[in-house]
Amino acid sequence: MHPFVFINAAMSADGKISTHLKKQVRISGDLDFHRVDRLRCEADAIMVGIGTILSDDPSLTVKSEEFRRMRLDSGRDENPIRVVVDSLAKTPPNADILRKGAGRRIVFVSGSAAAERVDALRTSGAEVVVAGGQDDARVDLAAALEHLQDTGVRRLMVEGGATLNWSLIERGLVDEIYVYIGSLVLGGSVAPTLVDGAGFSNRDDAPLLDLISIERMDDGFVVKWRVL
Ligand SMILES: NC(=O)c1ccc[n+]([C@@H]2O[C@H](COP(=O)([O-])OP(=O)(O)OC[C@H]3O[C@@H](n4cnc5c(N)ncnc54)[C@H](OP(=O)(O)O)[C@@H]3O)[C@@H](O)[C@H]2O)c1
Repeated sequence: MHPFVFINAAMSADGKISTHLKKQVRISGDLDFHRVDRLRCEADAIMVGIGTILSDDPSLTVKSEEFRRMRLDSGRDENPIRVVVDSLAKTPPNADILRKGAGRRIVFVSGSAAAERVDALRTSGAEVVVAGGQDDARVDLAAALEHLQDTGVRRLMVEGGATLNWSLIERGLVDEIYVYIGSLVLGGSVAPTLVDGAGFSNRDDAPLLDLISIERMDDGFVVKWRVL
């Protein structure tokens, strides 16, 4: 059993989720920020890959006072559980995700993570969980999702990046994909796209999507798909 998993991302008209410098770039506007904040408010947990932590240092907190109050009024923490997928425990102990906002943080590591890095993260307040076997080089995502389900997570929001999105989709672990498509072109052959990784070799292997909705927002639009 695993939680309902959805990816939410913002990309340029040419499919890039950041620039070739791999630094965060504003792709959407205020209405979309509010939409994303609502998705965070409604989620039990938010997951990102270590690449996103090192590039953008996001806090992943719920920004609106109203949404934080709604969560507290319904007996939940102010913020969803914030989750990092980080095989070698490279999350800096002073990362914003560990420093900012109230609520639990879980860092999933592999069996190869160095004990002193794991200890440093625990000292910073994170719950560090080995997902997968001792010999696995990378976090076993199915095991991580199972752990989240066991801790009560029913709705998991994935906020990137490109490599984590690929692994989750390749393993068939994603239920829905929501993308804000902005009216700009970023270009760059090394700029991360919505889904990077090795890629599928042919159409028969590629998961097909069922279009749920398209909504105009700010100067772009939001498209939602169900993964078939
Ligand atoms: N526009 C948007 O909506 C948006 C949102 C988020 C991020 N971004 C952008 O995305 C970029 C970061 O993406 P990224 O692809 O470099 O990094 P990422 O997807 O955030 O993190 C990938 C890393 O996670 C770790 N990992 C551990 N187990 C894994 C597994 N089973 N499968 C996949 N990854 C696993 C790997 O590093 P280890 O093996 O070392 O653990 C891997 O390199 C940044 O430029 C950021 O600005 C954009």
